Amino acid sequence: MEKRTVMAVFGTRPEAIKMAPLVLELRRRPQLRCLCCVTAQHREMLDNVLDLFGIEPDFDLNIMAPRQTLAHITSRCVEGMDSVLETTKPELVLVHGDTTTTLAGALSAFYHKIPVGHVEAGLRTGDRLSPFPEEMNRCLTGKLASMHFCPTRSNAENLRRERLEGEIFITGNTVIDALRTTVRPDYRFSGEALNELDFENRRVLLVTAHRRENYGEPMENIMRALVRIAETHPETELVYPVHLSPYVQETANRFLRGVPNIRLLAPLTPDEMHNLMARCFMVLTDSGGLQEEAPGLGKPVLVLRRETERPEAVEAGTVVLAGVEEENIFQTACRLLTDETAYRAMARAVNPYGDGHACERIADAILWHFGERTAPPDDFCPES
Ligand code: UD1
Ligand code: UDP
Repeated sequence: MEKRTVMAVFGTRPEAIKMAPLVLELRRRPQLRCLCCVTAQHREMLDNVLDLFGIEPDFDLNIMAPRQTLAHITSRCVEGMDSVLETTKPELVLVHGDTTTTLAGALSAFYHKIPVGHVEAGLRTGDRLSPFPEEMNRCLTGKLASMHFCPTRSNAENLRRERLEGEIFITGNTVIDALRTTVRPDYRFSGEALNELDFENRRVLLVTAHRRENYGEPMENIMRALVRIAETHPETELVYPVHLSPYVQETANRFLRGVPNIRLLAPLTPDEMHNLMARCFMVLTDSGGLQEEAPGLGKPVLVLRRETERPEAVEAGTVVLAGVEEENIFQTACRLLTDETAYRAMARAVNPYGDGHACERIADAILWHFGERTAPPDDFCPES
């Protein structure tokens, strides 16, 4: 039997975490040959994930540079993808989400007239400048794609409203598939810093912040709020694995280094991150992925942004938009630390983003698209 070649293209940490379980699922399907091309828009943070899932890429463009510009990433990816696509000629290119790798991968496939499947399609804030450049990356990738794998029903409705061409599937988010493999009650962290944390007697607040549109004043406001939370609540322990972006490193170190109950750590591997999240008191973050993972683990999330393209958990009441002003972030966090009813109302496990079977649905949809299955997969429906 002639196998159909599908190529997964990704380059940053979140894409890798969300594509790894899909690559593994596609490799389990005998009708498919799944190649993997990484751009390495991220280097260390990508390799962390590849190692955890045991994925060795077939192609590695190795494009990362310190303080890289969007133009650098885009041009190096498109240039590098050219010969990879020329030699391998896949029948479908899969890209994920909203990064510059995503858009460049989709554009390169389009230049080779290869159909594009967009995983995590249809999320929108409606503001083309926020998140920047991700909102536009996601819109343009949607335009280029002919298969759209939407995590939720409302993501699919966004695409239908835009009258995008192609097949739309509601699959759930593959990150929930990844979570099912990483979180374990008996998990032991590899580093002492995390094993030393006293989850019983202290309130561990998990923090991450890295978004480009928060660079400058918003990120400084976030840092000031964190210092105030730590100082007014000495019973808390703020744990912040700092993104390797030099800008973020510099800002986090300038504001937070030396505060006794704030721990700045190197980026964690996904299994460490997921198990830390499962044990913490709450999460403060501007990350997209953490907003999807924490609700499934029953952890309240304060989103350090003005808007979100993931409204489902806000509507479910487990995520709150805390904004990027110091006072509001501080007050919102303090309320959850002091008002048990408010905390309990948010600390409920909900799963609006997936049931752990997104990768199976995407693989089934691809087989159906190739005429190797008689029916498309059923839509993902969250438990009500
Ligand atoms: C990128 C994505 C963003 C995503 C984020 C996830 C774009 C435009 N942005 O933003 O959507 O939320 O990844 O983390 O695609 N660096 C290292 N080692 C690493 C990774 C990064 O040193 O393993 C440093 C490099 O100096 C690099 C900088 O971080 O230049 C920024 O990386 P980049 O991918 O350009 O932007 P992110 O802010 O990570
Ligand atoms: N993550 C991780 N280690 C860290 C920080 C985050 O493994 O130190 C994981 C997190 O669990 C989630 C993903 O990385 O799955 C989110 O990536 P990030 O916040 O970098 O990007 P975003 O989701 O905002 O695009």
